[in-house]
Amino acid sequence: MKTIIEPFKIKSVEHISFTTREERINILKNAFYNPFKIKAEDVVIDLLTDSGTSAMSSNQWGKLMEADESYAGAKSFFRFEKTVKELTGFNHIIPTHQGRAAENILFKIFHNKGKVSISNTHFDTTRANAAVNNMVIVDLPINPESNFYFKGNMDCKLLLEKINEVGASNVGLIIMTITNNAVGGQPVSMQNIIEVSSIAKKYKIPYYIDACRFAENAYFIKKHEKGFSDHSVKSIAQEIFSYADGCTMSAKKDALVNMGGFLALNDSEVAEEAKNQLIVTEGFPTYGGLSGRDLEAIAEGLNEIVDEKYLEYRLRSIEYVGEKFIKIGIPIIEPVGGHAIFINAKKMLPHISTEHFPGQSLVCAFYIEGGVRSCEIGSVMFGKFDEQLNKFVAAPNEYVRMAIPRRVYTQSHMDYLVEVGEEVYKKREELSGFKIIKEPKLLRHFSAHFEPLS
Ligand code: F0G
Repeated sequence: MKTIIEPFKIKSVEHISFTTREERINILKNAFYNPFKIKAEDVVIDLLTDSGTSAMSSNQWGKLMEADESYAGAKSFFRFEKTVKELTGFNHIIPTHQGRAAENILFKIFHNKGKVSISNTHFDTTRANAAVNNMVIVDLPINPESNFYFKGNMDCKLLLEKINEVGASNVGLIIMTITNNAVGGQPVSMQNIIEVSSIAKKYKIPYYIDACRFAENAYFIKKHEKGFSDHSVKSIAQEIFSYADGCTMSAKKDALVNMGGFLALNDSEVAEEAKNQLIVTEGFPTYGGLSGRDLEAIAEGLNEIVDEKYLEYRLRSIEYVGEKFIKIGIPIIEPVGGHAIFINAKKMLPHISTEHFPGQSLVCAFYIEGGVRSCEIGSVMFGKFDEQLNKFVAAPNEYVRMAIPRRVYTQSHMDYLVEVGEEVYKKREELSGFKIIKEPKLLRHFSAHFEPLS
């Protein structure tokens, strides 16, 4: 059969509240046109993030009851440790309450070992954790305009240039984000993972994987990289980890849970330091900020995520929306990435200048037309007014991200999203820009207040 179906049946459901267009206009106004300020119950389809929003399986829920909640040495920890060890091959497995806690520990340790952190693109929490530890952040993604399929890759030529420029001993670590969230959830090829590994080894620089979406990345390798079609996704994932010294993981993505993460690595001295940090901020090393239930759910989720029927459905369902958007005329990042559709708002709304946030305008239009909540990744998030230049400096891109939660929405929800997209597209020329009327000093996208220009 050609039809790819959701490879699960629904056992428990959550009610969706519907609102009218008029109601949504008011809700948005009261939220100062910021989607982070809208109550979840006022959202029809919530595509703000794919993080911590997965539906757990009946097996995961079952494991919760088996969990051991002992403070130290709980059975659940050992089950979790065994699963993560088997998957990643790393010797030391350190649970944390989420991905950024693992990043925080890692950067606290590595900022003493060199001042520069290099990545294919640091995700914003990774960037923030490197920055608070006084590291210089260097992103070296390949040219996004290239015809190459694996657009998440790191540019190895630029990597070598950077190492020569700053000196290898000044590079604290290299971190490879798979898939590359900030550039559209694009995958990284095995070849690139290997090349970067050999450069890191040659210059004795620690090499870590930001593994949040490792299974989606491994499936892209299976489907699109020569020589991997008959490898299992799990063996591809194991191979990816084998080239690195360790990884950070937000289990809220590809471990199919609502909370959790870990740091996994080989070096015993670094592990010792990490566990010392962990006790101060997260908890004892056999629970690290998580309950036994969480550890059980992660272990089960990691076994479920490498199911290739699931991954086939997952990537196809996102590609499906992408194809329909393209047909309508909505400009998106192509090929579609692993966890989200990224709309190019600058292209779709050329009449709105970057200073007036075309992405924010689209986010609001999707909410008003259909109650769809999405996220601006453009000049609201990364643009700023430069005091020295006395002018507004826009972000490199004006994107709107529609991140699809795992196992939550069905195909008819996606068809509804497409219909909303069609409506927004029809009205695109009427959409107006926004101005910010109140903003905090840091991470303004979470709490800024906006006002429409007309
Ligand atoms: N690394 C990447 C690539 C991420 O996408 C995220 C989170 C993190 C690290 C941090 O993990 O949230 O568990 O602390 N991304 C979410 C998102 C928030 O919406 O993309 P965390």
